[in-house]
Amino acid sequence: MKKEVDFTKVVAHAKEYGFVFPSSEIYDGLAAVYDYGQLGVELKNNIKQYWWRAMVQMHENIVGLDSAIFMHPRIWKASGHVDAFNDPLIDNKDSKKRYRADVLIEDHIAKMEEKIEKEVEKGRKRWGESFDEAQFRATNARVLEHQQKIDEIHTRFAEVMNANDLAGLKQLILDLEIVCPISGTRNWTDVRQFNLMFATKMGSVIDDSDTLYLRPETAQGIFVNFLNVQKSGRMKVPFGIAQIGKAFRNEIVARQFIFRMREFEQMEMQFFVRPGTELEWFKHWKEERMQWHQALGIPAECYRFHDHEKLAHYANAATDIEFRFPFGFKELEGIHSRTDFDLGRHSEFSGKKLQYFDPELNESYTPYVIETSIGVDRMFLAVFSHALKEETLEDGSVRTVLSLPTRLAPYKAAVLPLVKKDGLPEKAREVQHLLMPDMMVQYDEKDAIGRRYRRQDAIGTPFCITVDNDTLNDNSVTVRHRDTMQQERVSIDQLLNRIKN
Ligand code: GAP
Repeated sequence: MKKEVDFTKVVAHAKEYGFVFPSSEIYDGLAAVYDYGQLGVELKNNIKQYWWRAMVQMHENIVGLDSAIFMHPRIWKASGHVDAFNDPLIDNKDSKKRYRADVLIEDHIAKMEEKIEKEVEKGRKRWGESFDEAQFRATNARVLEHQQKIDEIHTRFAEVMNANDLAGLKQLILDLEIVCPISGTRNWTDVRQFNLMFATKMGSVIDDSDTLYLRPETAQGIFVNFLNVQKSGRMKVPFGIAQIGKAFRNEIVARQFIFRMREFEQMEMQFFVRPGTELEWFKHWKEERMQWHQALGIPAECYRFHDHEKLAHYANAATDIEFRFPFGFKELEGIHSRTDFDLGRHSEFSGKKLQYFDPELNESYTPYVIETSIGVDRMFLAVFSHALKEETLEDGSVRTVLSLPTRLAPYKAAVLPLVKKDGLPEKAREVQHLLMPDMMVQYDEKDAIGRRYRRQDAIGTPFCITVDNDTLNDNSVTVRHRDTMQQERVSIDQLLNRIKN
């Protein structure tokens, strides 16, 4: 039987096996900043490659970009980040702890959603095979009562957020009787705004005009290069520009491991379309991005869309793809219809016309934009936490297995000589070198074979290839499959193809 593990085990496993370390750990760490270890960097690179292949390589009308982190400070004025990239903060006067007011409300809603899930679970246990979940959700009195409350909170929440009504936000927290998790009291300060951008200075003579910001998103690097790419690449609308790169945000409530970090990486694509066609393209990208996630083989019920009630002033549609993390459903990716806001603002602030001449319409216009934006680290956490399982075997022992999708696994295969003598290590090295040009392969000869299998299970290696005495005679090896633990004999001549398939 396979069982998902709790979140503390996910964090511990990531560290123990060299996936993720707290940054600057020997100096007691730096809050919400993490380093990726020897296996983490492989998994992360594979995620980036999986995205790049799907978005750039598989679309002839999408090209890549690698823009600088430092950009002209007026860019952030034009984008709205200087004036409006804020989080609403609230302090508890007793514990002196600071919270994001909107997150307190979202957490409150999540707890109510959990209550609904518990009712559904109870129903499932009670009715067994004949349980009709959809009907239960539509008719059960308790579920309906919780849902009605959630809907009411959502409506009020959207109203105060849309109106930027900080007093209303505080009142909602008071009305919902939300308490500080540390002090347990409702002794809250007023809500105020806090800008999330990190500032730094450029050059040796420092005054205010030299203030630069570490980019809080990679998107603006794409917008300001719109004309460069369109003209030099002779791109025709609709077309997209994709970029992977670091972003920085001074997150106040930085928690849940690599879910919310101060330095993180984004994979963003801006798709430029004819005005008036943007909602069709929004729908298209919504579906295509969900397919991308599900193609990894993670069950569909781990994902859901969350359409935004509070639309940013520049957007005319927005949705999140949420993933079921160990701490509940949370945003994994955002898909936004950003209208002509970004190109329009950069035209205004730079004085350069960022337009496209459409030969079919014989007119120039400012293209509209559909954005897809996903955090590499959040994607890492999604696949890693979902993959980590504890499995009770028939003999009662427990094995920890990281069932990563094969294309994302750091090592695709491990080559293991059964014993460290009789020419088996030499033969195993031959097998290793046969596979190395095509995939990441690990060689391991230390400890009993069972322990070596377990080590590979724990780091997600899909195939263990064992070289034994028979290998020297029949030129074949035993291939053990990580998830089923089944073994098969494969000729070395066919090994590469077998594994690649
Ligand atoms: N350009 C649009 C944009 O940046 P966003 O919703 O703020 O939109 C997009 O961020 C994605 O970036 C999120 O869905 C999430 O995956 C990731 N992300 C945002 N803030 C993050 C943080 N502090 N730590 C890790 N990932 C983050």
